[in-house]
Amino acid sequence: MNRPTRFTLFLFAAVGVIIACDPKDDILGPLSPTVSDGLDSIEYNPQAYQFPPINGLPTMQIPASNPVTVQGVKLGRYLFYEKILSIDSSISCGSCHRQDKAFTDGVPKSIGVDGTIGTRNSMSLINIGYSWRPNNAHNFMWDGKFRDLEDQVLAPVENPLEMKNNWEEVERRLRNHEHYPALFRKAFGINSKAEITKELAAKAMSQFMRTLNSADSKYDSVEWRAFNYFSEEQQRGYELFLGDVNGAAVTKDAECAHCHSFSRNFATFARNNYSNNGLDSAQSFNDFIDKGLGGVTAVPTDNGRFKEVTLRNIGLTAPYMHDGRFTTLDEVLDHYISGGHPSPNIANELASAPTLRTLSASEKSDIIAFLNTLTDTSYFTKEEWTDPFLLLDPWAE
Ligand code: HEC
Ligand code: HEC
Repeated sequence: MNRPTRFTLFLFAAVGVIIACDPKDDILGPLSPTVSDGLDSIEYNPQAYQFPPINGLPTMQIPASNPVTVQGVKLGRYLFYEKILSIDSSISCGSCHRQDKAFTDGVPKSIGVDGTIGTRNSMSLINIGYSWRPNNAHNFMWDGKFRDLEDQVLAPVENPLEMKNNWEEVERRLRNHEHYPALFRKAFGINSKAEITKELAAKAMSQFMRTLNSADSKYDSVEWRAFNYFSEEQQRGYELFLGDVNGAAVTKDAECAHCHSFSRNFATFARNNYSNNGLDSAQSFNDFIDKGLGGVTAVPTDNGRFKEVTLRNIGLTAPYMHDGRFTTLDEVLDHYISGGHPSPNIANELASAPTLRTLSASEKSDIIAFLNTLTDTSYFTKEEWTDPFLLLDPWAE
């Protein structure tokens, strides 16, 4: 045994003693940042993630504080599917956001640990990065509770109806894990396990989610590749959906495109503003059962307003609305064609829509036929998005 090796062994033994004596073991994990645990010998050389160009999707705006890297995305993918984030290691983000359902879960209200039923319907994460507008305080969730993805990500772990855990415990589990410290090192250049924090975990998961972009539906092939055509039924539905948003003179207008959406970001089919689409009757602003945006801003006129979500993959994400009240698109269309329930702030697009209420049964099925052209199945088997823990060797390079 040469001298350096002997010296290293001595060092490890000394570290072992420090570990054993640290009274903070149970809460923070065994190592303090001043003690080297060998992490800094792992190469830190992050590479910028190259976003592939996708039909019609614009360049995504990304917060400067969290540049997307190959190594960050990789770590984020593991964390997204990591069940140890939940108190009893029973569910991961991926349990409620499933790849084969455009990252929703197929139930009216999501189910957390112990089978606890939540209060709202899971939301699609396809093209989620496009929901972020830097100057907007309300970008994420049905009620716009979060401005940044990095903040949103922290919530499910501690939500008693979802993962029911706390971040101190999750940090401890990650620091003591066989594989995560090295992945955090490669993604963020940390020098010791103790530097693993919830903020870094949130950054990595946000980076992963910003790569969940896809626009490869029949609609896209008609719009962008020009070798495919809508059926007559789909074409009629498309025109009704569009209505007069482009200033076209139309005899019938289903009003949909005003909110789902051409005015701001057509390619994602989501305006991401907040409006009241007439789901509930309310005499006054206090009558809304779920106040939506108003519950966040405490502005009464925001009560009953919810996020104008994407309609991409809408054929995959039943049931519908923030509380999952509609099982089928047929029911959704019946709702809109009825003009919605009266309330003081029902959206103008619905309250003063001259022809929406006159849509016939066949025009309704035309619109549904068009909506189903927004279904994209190209990513169902996309390996970079699948649950790595289903692989034979999840941690293989
Ligand atoms: C128990 C099921 C469940 C789990 C677990 C869960 N989510 Fe969600 N997710 C939901 C529900 C329900 C909503 C809508 C909640 C609301 O608006 O109040 C949501 C909303 C979101 C949104 C907002 C989407 C948008 O369009 O604004 C993002 C992003 C998200 N979840 C990511 C995650 C991440 C990351 C994790 C893991 C850390 C996670 N979710 C874990 C059910 C879940
Ligand atoms: C005034 C704006 C507005 C108009 C017009 C509008 N919507 Fe919506 N839409 C919303 C909002 C807001 C939500 C979310 C409501 C909620 O869950 O509380 C929504 C939700 C939906 C959902 C459910 C999405 C999901 O993931 O659960 C579908 C489907 C839908 N709209 C289709 C349509 C169609 C089709 C039309 C035209 C007939 C239309 N919308 C017109 C604002 C609008």
